[in-house]
Amino acid sequence: MRTILIGPPGAGKGTQAKIVCDQWHIPQISTGDMLRAHKAQGTTLGLEAAKFMSAGALVPDEVVIGMVEERLKQDDAKPGFLFDGFPRTVAQAEALDGLLGKLGQKLDAVVLIEVADDLLVERVCFRRTDKVTGRIYHLKYSAPPPGVELVQRDDDKEDTVRARLVAYHGQTAPLIPYYEQRGLLRRVDGVGEMAKVTERVLKALGN
Ligand code: AP5
Repeated sequence: MRTILIGPPGAGKGTQAKIVCDQWHIPQISTGDMLRAHKAQGTTLGLEAAKFMSAGALVPDEVVIGMVEERLKQDDAKPGFLFDGFPRTVAQAEALDGLLGKLGQKLDAVVLIEVADDLLVERVCFRRTDKVTGRIYHLKYSAPPPGVELVQRDDDKEDTVRARLVAYHGQTAPLIPYYEQRGLLRRVDGVGEMAKVTERVLKALGN
C-alpha cells in the first residue's frame, strides 16, 4: 500500500498514521518528524528549516523533496509506505509523481482527514509528546499516564498554529482537487473519538 494522509495541522495525521503503520508493517514517513530530527541534530538542513517551521511557514519545496527522495530509496519503503505531512504543495505532489514513476511505483490512495479550523487550535495547543517514545497525547482528550516525560513542540503556540492554518489553506488545500482529479482522494471525518476516526481511515483505505 502506498498512501498519503493529508489534512490541516492537528487533524490527527500523526495519531492515525502510527496506528495504520503498526497494523500494516509499513514505514510512516513524516516530513515534519524528519525535519525535527535534523533540527535536533543541528544539521545545516535542520537549522535552515527551523526558521520556516518556527514561523509556521512551509519549508522550501526543494529541501523537502530532496529529503523524501533519499528516504524512498531505503529498503523498508519498497513494499509500501504512508506519507504523513507530505506532499504539502502541488509542486511536491508533482515531484512525488516523478519519483514514484522512476521507481516504477504508483499511489494507491490519498486520505484527507477533515476537521474544522476552530477545533484545530485547541487540539494543537494542548498536544504533548512523550520525549522518549514520540507517542502523541492530548492534555484533555488523550491524557498521558503518570511519569511520562512530556515535551511541547516549538510551533504549537497559538499564533504559530494560526500561521500554519493559513499555509495549509493557501498552499496545501490545492492538493484536494489535484488528487480528486486523479481518482485517489478519500475524505474522512476527523471529528469524534480517536478509535472511530481510525475505523474511518481504515475503511477509506479499503481495510
Ligand atoms: P508537521 O509535523 O507535519 O505538522 P502538521 O502537518 O502541522 O500536523 P501536526 O503534526 O501539527 O498534526 P497532526 O495532523 O499530525 O495531528 P496529531 O495526530 O498530532 O509539520 C510541522 C512543520 O514542518 C510545518 O509547519 C512545516 O514548517 C514543516 N513541514 C513538514 N512537512 C513539510 C513539507 N512536506 N513541506 C514543507 N514544510 C513541511 O493530533 C493533534 C492533537 O490532537 C494531539 O494532541 C492528538 O492527541 C489530538 N487528537 C488527534 N485525534 C483526535 C481526535 N479524534 N479527537 C481529539 N483529539 C485528537
